[in-house]
Amino acid sequence: MMEAAILDAVNGGKLAQLAGLSARYADPAFSVAHGGHVRTIAAGHYTVAGLSKHVRLGEFVAHRSATGIHLGEVVRVEPDIIYVCPIEPGEPIGIGDTVIRKGAFRVAPDDSWCGRTINSLGEPIDGKGPIVRGLHPRSIANTAPPSMTRSRVEKGFRTGVRAIDIFSPLCLGQRLGIFAGSGVGKSTLLSMLARADAFDKVVIALVGERGREVREFIEDTLGENMSKSIAIVATSDESPMLRKMAPLVAITIAEHFRDQGDNVLFIADSVTRFAHAIREVAVAAGEPPIARGYPASVFTELPRLLERAGPGVEGAGTITAIISILVDGDNHNDPIADSTRGILDGHIVLDRSLAEEGRYPPINPLASISRLARKAWTEDQEKLVSRLKSLVHRYEETRDLRLIGGYRAGSDPDLDMAIKQVPVIYEVLKQTPAEKPTLDAYADLANALRAAAGQGNPQTAIARR
Ligand SMILES: Nc1ncnc2c1ncn2[C@@H]1O[C@H](COP(=O)(O)OP(=O)(O)OP(=O)(O)O)[C@@H](O)[C@H]1O
Ligand SMILES: [Mg+2]
Repeated sequence: MMEAAILDAVNGGKLAQLAGLSARYADPAFSVAHGGHVRTIAAGHYTVAGLSKHVRLGEFVAHRSATGIHLGEVVRVEPDIIYVCPIEPGEPIGIGDTVIRKGAFRVAPDDSWCGRTINSLGEPIDGKGPIVRGLHPRSIANTAPPSMTRSRVEKGFRTGVRAIDIFSPLCLGQRLGIFAGSGVGKSTLLSMLARADAFDKVVIALVGERGREVREFIEDTLGENMSKSIAIVATSDESPMLRKMAPLVAITIAEHFRDQGDNVLFIADSVTRFAHAIREVAVAAGEPPIARGYPASVFTELPRLLERAGPGVEGAGTITAIISILVDGDNHNDPIADSTRGILDGHIVLDRSLAEEGRYPPINPLASISRLARKAWTEDQEKLVSRLKSLVHRYEETRDLRLIGGYRAGSDPDLDMAIKQVPVIYEVLKQTPAEKPTLDAYADLANALRAAAGQGNPQTAIARR
């Protein structure tokens, strides 16, 4: 009896119909999604009615137009309408167009992405063919691991840049900012740091760069390291949404590798342009500015991004972040510089005056600090650096006095030593990107001082004083 009923149903095609329906809904392209309609359109955003109760801030929606499906981010939610910033400007939007909810923007990193250059949407832009989507998509709006579960930062590493390895050595999982005005040497220093051999993977976000510089950075400076690097690029002519997404996509990829146990270097050039992009999006959504034209969301997004770098939970790898910050008009107290300095575990200050003297990289050793340097130095190295800093300070503070001939050799032994040794130190700190990374910066310094003195071991001589 039962059998007959089943057969009846099968013959009537009801089971087949049910199976077809179920397969159709299992396909994400047909799955049920909340939708609404475009209500108003403005220069930087459009509004949608009917989605307010179903979307969250920062989620993505898809708008179907004659030219295809275009993504946009929800930047403001009101009781009746939501504000959406389109990712690509210039898409044709009409009143009444359908917009559907997509949820968080996800990327699915895969080990095969190493050596590739992608855009903020996770699409390859290097002409080397399609990329494989990984098995585990991750939201780009991820949060940092809880602080008490994270392992501690305590292992130093060699960057290969003498001025940093001596004066502000770094640890795996540290977050470091490079602060400088425009054209002083930030990108060049970042490219030198990208060659540090302590890392399994290097993830680089190039935000708001000139198109010309991008190829230069990737091809010339990464060179043989390209096979373990992934670059995420949003050039200056791309939309603020794409510029805002680039570092988020990059840190999400870095997290993927960190969770596999890799030590990852995350580089963002520049975080100021990331902040500018957030400002453009927020202003388009009507958020009021609070500091120098920057809206409040800039100051919540920056720590959120940087906090995601650092060590992972016990057993995972680390993300060491090195980011560049453009200080507007060489004013080191601008709001972005100020707020990032507080979040970071160290800052390297580049001086225009040093660059003008041709002392590259133009790192000011007295103004730069690494808050984790103590973990990287040995006791002797710490003493030596403290002594070196005091010599440099003495040398710099008496520069004017010496220039007007107000100093006689022999009247201050400390200053005599500074005058003899500081120019040698400055010479040792000079380094171009064409040079290979330095294996032992202290040995280089000791050799140079020894050669200048022509005798003895000045490294221990300085340390003993
Ligand atoms: N270590 C170095 N050795 C030799 N020259 C350097 C070095 N660093 C920087 N320069 C010189 O300074 C110029 C500007 O450097 P770079 O592009 O890195 O500056 P930037 O701070 O990134 O500029 P922007 O603010 O425009 O991004 C380079 O083109 C190069 O000529
Ligand atoms: Mg630059």
